[in-house]
Amino acid sequence: MSEAVRTMMRIDAEAAQGAAAQADAGFLWDFWYPAVRSTEVTGQKLVTAMLLEVPLVLGRTSEGRVFAMRDSCPHRGMPLSYGRLDGKVVECCYHGWRFDACSGQCMEIPSLSSQDKLKVERIFAGHYPCEERDGYVWVYMNAPGTPLPETIPAAPALTVFSDKYKITHLSCELPSHIDHGIIGLMDPAHGPFVHQSWFWRKRASIHEKAKQFEPIPNGFRMSPHSPSTNSAPYQLLKKITGEPVTTTIDFVLPNIRTEEDRSGKMWFSSRATVTPVRRDLCRIDFVAAWNLFFLPVSIFRIFGKVFLRQDQETMIQQAEGLKHNPRLMLIDDADRPAKWYFALKANLIESRRTGAPMVHPMDGPVTLRWRS
Ligand code: FES
Ligand SMILES: [Fe+2]
Repeated sequence: MSEAVRTMMRIDAEAAQGAAAQADAGFLWDFWYPAVRSTEVTGQKLVTAMLLEVPLVLGRTSEGRVFAMRDSCPHRGMPLSYGRLDGKVVECCYHGWRFDACSGQCMEIPSLSSQDKLKVERIFAGHYPCEERDGYVWVYMNAPGTPLPETIPAAPALTVFSDKYKITHLSCELPSHIDHGIIGLMDPAHGPFVHQSWFWRKRASIHEKAKQFEPIPNGFRMSPHSPSTNSAPYQLLKKITGEPVTTTIDFVLPNIRTEEDRSGKMWFSSRATVTPVRRDLCRIDFVAAWNLFFLPVSIFRIFGKVFLRQDQETMIQQAEGLKHNPRLMLIDDADRPAKWYFALKANLIESRRTGAPMVHPMDGPVTLRWRS
């Protein structure tokens, strides 16, 4: 066996180990994840991001199309983000290999002489499907070492209920594994402790609640209901429209929580996604849209930031405890959504492994009771 072949085999074995380690990180592959805000990807800039521990380089072609490639040159691993984009082609800064930005296909290897037989067009830089939606660049993260499925679903879109509306985006990083980020997002019992604010609710207002949940594909829904009487903003909305407020909250894999509040012609719609960056870091991206004339974006952002900051501080503190791998418990009913999340995730992975249809952990509507 030649030295070169042995080296290649070692590199392949290392790549396989890398893929196995990634598979163990508890990520759900073959889904869309928001990578960066659309507004960051301008001109001929190359922007970096990381999703599911994959380093990415993103950019925009001169025609305005966004693209995402693995931020690693297939030649010798130089991050392509150190190279340059000419509007269509990304050129590596090390030996000048050139790649079509949208397909990742190698277009040119400057060092090749007329004698060389290397088929340049058979070399590809890693690249991922990419779409813009609601002000984010979404990247479809197909599992390492697997081909892209023939059809992929469209990237998620925020539901809106009128032509004119306000929209705003917030985000924050959590030093947590994706699972803790997600169950923190759906946990109803932390509200009165973590989100004590004059504008939201007081700890003393804690009371017993009963909410109905129902299964939906890849997730569950808190059935349409009137929101809690101890949340000031909902009470205000009800006063203004004079009509009841209905709230519907969905969670769907891999990481999406949506909430739709409607009262007469007024509506508010939001989506929070918790995206795994690395196994010890995730990011909440929150987008909200509404047609409530009395709610300026600036005011909403002040409150939204306080709210997110409260969650973030809590997760920073929790991460200190989780470092020591404590045993954890999930209790009924307040942690039941968390249990569903883990079951949904496990069942999806199992159905992908076996090819059998996914088993939903809920067999019908169920009422959960907790105090918050
Ligand atoms: S490392 Fe990119 S061209 Fe050599
Ligand atoms: Fe929270």
